[in-house]
Amino acid sequence: MDLKIIAANDILANVIHSNYRVLVVLDRMGIKLGFDNKTIEQITRENNINTGAFLIILNIFCNNNYIPDVGKNFEFIPDFLRYLKSSHHYFLNEKIPAIQQNIHKLVYHLHDSRTDLVESFYNKYIEEVTEHMDYENETVFPYIEDIYDVFLKKSTISSPMAEYDISIYGEHHDDIEDVLKDLKNILIRHLPQKEQGKTRRIVLQQLFELESDLYSHTRIEDEVLIPLVKELENDLRPLISMT
Ligand SMILES: [Fe+2]
Ligand SMILES: [Fe+2]
Repeated sequence: MDLKIIAANDILANVIHSNYRVLVVLDRMGIKLGFDNKTIEQITRENNINTGAFLIILNIFCNNNYIPDVGKNFEFIPDFLRYLKSSHHYFLNEKIPAIQQNIHKLVYHLHDSRTDLVESFYNKYIEEVTEHMDYENETVFPYIEDIYDVFLKKSTISSPMAEYDISIYGEHHDDIEDVLKDLKNILIRHLPQKEQGKTRRIVLQQLFELESDLYSHTRIEDEVLIPLVKELENDLRPLISMT
């Protein structure tokens, strides 16, 4: 399906009406509802958000075929980091635990040894996702903030690039939504439904939402953040001391 690209002069309320799931994007960027007929440009300016960065996030979130072109807009970096960090918080503290509770409920209703596998599979998945996001929060994002500070000339003494560079992250950056496909298939194809279907349906809906949210999250990291930081490293390298 060819979706229209969301632009700066679009009315944000209309964007929500065409895809209500963008509400989580607004929440993550600290945009409060009640914005009348204002355009995206007006709202982002009022909220001190870079309009270009916000449009890239929104278009990736809404459209899997959208190809972002971030160029050398290094000033987008703080808003990308803000979105990614606040998404991590949402995944780890809100969405993933909510699904865990429902999976536990499902196992309790089913009394079937195979459902225990679903629970242990999901718990193992939580460990992997937590490790993945902790690494980004504790190593990757602080590194990007450090080199962005160098870019802003807040720090020139030594380069964080002496210790690390973004390609290390790029090479080891795994997809964390793929495992969810297996889990969905166990619930859809392999586990006979003996229970009333409500909890299983809720778990599946939540898994589909999480998968799609994680997919766009990973696209922002792989297709926007990593290439942009690579450009920044290339520009900074000749200018700074590597010691
Ligand atoms: Fe992430
Ligand atoms: Fe990631």
